[in-house]
Amino acid sequence: MTGVHIVPAQWRADVKEVLIPEEQLRRRVGELARAITRDYVGRDLVLVPLLTGTVMFLADLLRRLVIPTRLDFIGVSSYREGTRSRDLVFTKELRLDIRGRDVLVVDDILDTGHTLTAVYERLRTLKANSIRACVLLDKPARRVQPVQADYVGFVIPDLFVVGYGLDFAERYRNLPFVGVLRPELYREG
Ligand code: IMP
Ligand code: MG
Repeated sequence: MTGVHIVPAQWRADVKEVLIPEEQLRRRVGELARAITRDYVGRDLVLVPLLTGTVMFLADLLRRLVIPTRLDFIGVSSYREGTRSRDLVFTKELRLDIRGRDVLVVDDILDTGHTLTAVYERLRTLKANSIRACVLLDKPARRVQPVQADYVGFVIPDLFVVGYGLDFAERYRNLPFVGVLRPELYREG
């Protein structure tokens, strides 16, 4: 996250700054995939990404894993108002049987920790052999729940970010980089 990266002209009205450019995402996701591959060789890996913010991260991570893996999504929505999370609702349940398997939850960003805590609670009742988490981004400054991820792409400061799957009001997921949204585009509260 060092150096100054030019915000592409077509996004300049919305994005204040490029926090993580494409090339750094590509490199770091490769490192995460190698670490996961190493740790899960010979195990019964089930990847459980959370909808919808993981789309790009997941696609890049998945194609770099060189071990057999199963995949099933959990849908969880925080009914955000602006940039604040509120009550959680499960919008898609897991369909794979994870009993005795090694589950790796994948999320875009670990913020307050409410989402990951709720997902862990749900999964623990299903008798997996192990449950761990991999997140692209970690914003430890905002943590409310005592939860950590086992694999973290980037630790970032307390900024609202979009792109590479992350949204603001369902927009900006298609940016190929992680950028800081112009604060005048949202109102906290
Ligand atoms: P948590 O439950 O507060 O840990 O938040 C996790 C979810 O909030 C993530 O899966 C994101 O969907 C969303 N979120 C948190 N921070 C950001 C951000 O900076 N940009 C976009 N989405 C965010
Ligand atoms: Mg999300």
